[in-house]
Amino acid sequence: MAKAKHTNTTRDPGHGRPPASTPPQGVLERYAKISSLNYPVPAHGRTLAYTLGGITFVGFMVLFASGVLLQQFFDPAPERAYTSVEHLVKTVPGGAFLRAFHYWAAQAVVLTLLLHLARVFFGGAYKAPRTLTWYFGVALLGTALFGSYFTGTVLKWDQESFDALVHYRETLKTLGPIGTFLGSTEAVSLNVKLFASHVTLLPLVLVLLIAGHFYLVHVLNLSPLPFGEDSARATLPPDRMTGTFMEHTRSILLYGAIYYGLVAVLAWAIPAPLGPPVSGEEMSIKPPWPFLWLYAIENMTGRMDSMVHGIVTLLLVLAVVPLLDRGPERNPMNRRGTIAAGAVVLLTLVGLSVYAAITPPQMHHHEGMSPGMPMPHEEEGAHHDDTPH
Ligand code: HEM
Repeated sequence: MAKAKHTNTTRDPGHGRPPASTPPQGVLERYAKISSLNYPVPAHGRTLAYTLGGITFVGFMVLFASGVLLQQFFDPAPERAYTSVEHLVKTVPGGAFLRAFHYWAAQAVVLTLLLHLARVFFGGAYKAPRTLTWYFGVALLGTALFGSYFTGTVLKWDQESFDALVHYRETLKTLGPIGTFLGSTEAVSLNVKLFASHVTLLPLVLVLLIAGHFYLVHVLNLSPLPFGEDSARATLPPDRMTGTFMEHTRSILLYGAIYYGLVAVLAWAIPAPLGPPVSGEEMSIKPPWPFLWLYAIENMTGRMDSMVHGIVTLLLVLAVVPLLDRGPERNPMNRRGTIAAGAVVLLTLVGLSVYAAITPPQMHHHEGMSPGMPMPHEEEGAHHDDTPH
């Protein structure tokens, strides 16, 4: 019934209106040619597995919006950062929710980012012609996780932040002259610098990398399914692209709305953690879950700088994947060596994380560490009193 009614509807063109055969043009069509996004993509672009990258992107938007609001209440100076966070959550209406939402959205984004990577790896989507898309992805992982996520954990300036900052200093030492340049704290405290990076430099780098990533996804289109007759095909023939990019986008928005809606519920139920204020002593508090495997490596080597080696090794392992697994075949059943190697890496990371989570915290040696070693707050203490109260 409804269908018949719909098809029978004809518009009276009237004066200056388009003829009845021309579909009515909405504002978005008229001013933004939105129909150009209706280009064909494979039908599986609507499935959850193929919308994980898009859901990650929606998460960046959510983080940006909530971050801009948070920034209005946050004071990055080390002597005021902790109290400004406390003030936000205790006195500003909706402040605790806002902070928790940004916090939980960050965890959710890291999760979908990793799941997206896993899907791309499992389905061999890094193979030619999408190898450059993969390298943009590796750069995105490095920037999002070891840049944005890390700097975000330092800002609140509690004891965990302090320990994270000690690690950051150690990282700078391994970077030679670049580290010396970045770490010279004469005029600006390290955590003010990290705040600046968190809200300006890193989002800009992310936007540029995402632009490159999306451009490549657009021109190369989505890879065919890695199973069945298309598993060695680089691209689906045009007549088999039965979905559209608009449908793909609609699925992303639908799944994204559900996912970040659940994040909002989580944020309403569970506040973002805020540890004890900085004591001035390193306590080796365990890091957030995405960095636990690095903490485990430090436990085993006893050295803080092994964290840098861990990060570099992970990124290098990801970088060599397309170089080692060549050829057009993407079916996981025919790439058992690659899948087994991936499983070993994954199990190692999960195993290390579980080990770090269940063992008691340990102190890790770092160069020049001694009871009298100047800690970040002491060096900066010439200019600031770092104790938060
Ligand atoms: C900030 C993080 C990222 C965002 C926002 C993002 C976004 C996207 C989107 C929207 C797509 C197309 C739809 C989809 O496959 O889900 C895509 C595809 C792709 N991404 Fe990502 N991605 C990110 C990180 C990564 C990472 C870490 C890797 C791997 C190291 C990666 C590698 C790829 C590849 C190879 C494709 C093509 C997949 C195919 O055609 O089947 N991406 N990405």
